[in-house]
Amino acid sequence: MKDLPLQTKTALVTGARRGLGKAIALRLARSGADVVLNDIAAGQEECEGVAEEIRALGRKGLVATADVCAADQINEVMEKIVSECGRLDILVNNAGITRDMLLARMTEEQWDSVLNVNLKGTFLCTRAALKTMLKQRSGSIINIASVVGLMGNAGQANYAASKGGVIAFTKAVAKEVASRNIRVNAVAPGFIISPMTDKLSEEARRRLLCLIPLARLGKPEEVAEVVNFLAGDASAYITGQVVNVDGGMVM
Ligand SMILES: NC(=O)c1ccc[n+]([C@@H]2O[C@H](COP(=O)([O-])OP(=O)(O)OC[C@H]3O[C@@H](n4cnc5c(N)ncnc54)[C@H](O)[C@@H]3O)[C@@H](O)[C@H]2O)c1
Repeated sequence: MKDLPLQTKTALVTGARRGLGKAIALRLARSGADVVLNDIAAGQEECEGVAEEIRALGRKGLVATADVCAADQINEVMEKIVSECGRLDILVNNAGITRDMLLARMTEEQWDSVLNVNLKGTFLCTRAALKTMLKQRSGSIINIASVVGLMGNAGQANYAASKGGVIAFTKAVAKEVASRNIRVNAVAPGFIISPMTDKLSEEARRRLLCLIPLARLGKPEEVAEVVNFLAGDASAYITGQVVNVDGGMVM
């Protein structure tokens, strides 16, 4: 039990087909959790692959495709989790997108899509998960924010606003549900090797490295480690916090 601190727990990870979500799902499974992998329908096959890896670890690995912005789809995912796993202990709101553009040229579509997935998606999944967690009187919710939500970034006003919103949302909900033994924390990654940062130009990458005291990009597993800590009882007295995993960018 000591080696498997999340044994008997069920986790839902959104945006789990690849990148940070996949690393988080696998890390939680290695701690003993059964894991439900959510992503959009186009990610179903990759999710099935991750679920297979989780089952190979001896845990339940389920796939629940849904758009985090669609309340009816997310409510269905929660019903499926309760009927197949009987409970929900951990929610990781990881699904996220970028649509970068300088503000003067940013379209409403670029603004709305980023706010919808990153912020409204976090709201809808949290609201749906709380139904079960409030009845259980326990739970841990971890929202994947970004250092950009703390320090801003030119060309990412939509993304910065969404992640700053996620951080404020984290603190408000943490206060609201603490009395029911439900904790809500955020992790703010810096620049992590993933499909999202693979899109950066060499020039952008060089400029970024100058801002990182540890002088390298982070690994998805380094973010997953912190999520794993926040998910379990080792962090039982921590709520409403933002943990930066950023090589020292924000300090
Ligand atoms: N990679 C980084 O450097 C970095 C830094 C800070 C924060 N983050 C955050 O970490 C999270 C994961 O990012 P990543 O780098 O692994 O990117 P990624 O693009 O590899 O993963 C994001 C996942 O979310 C899924 N997704 C997108 N829209 C969705 C929707 N409507 N419903 C369900 N799933 C949806 C995508 O299909 C994808 O699998 C994001 O929230 C991102 O903002 C990443």
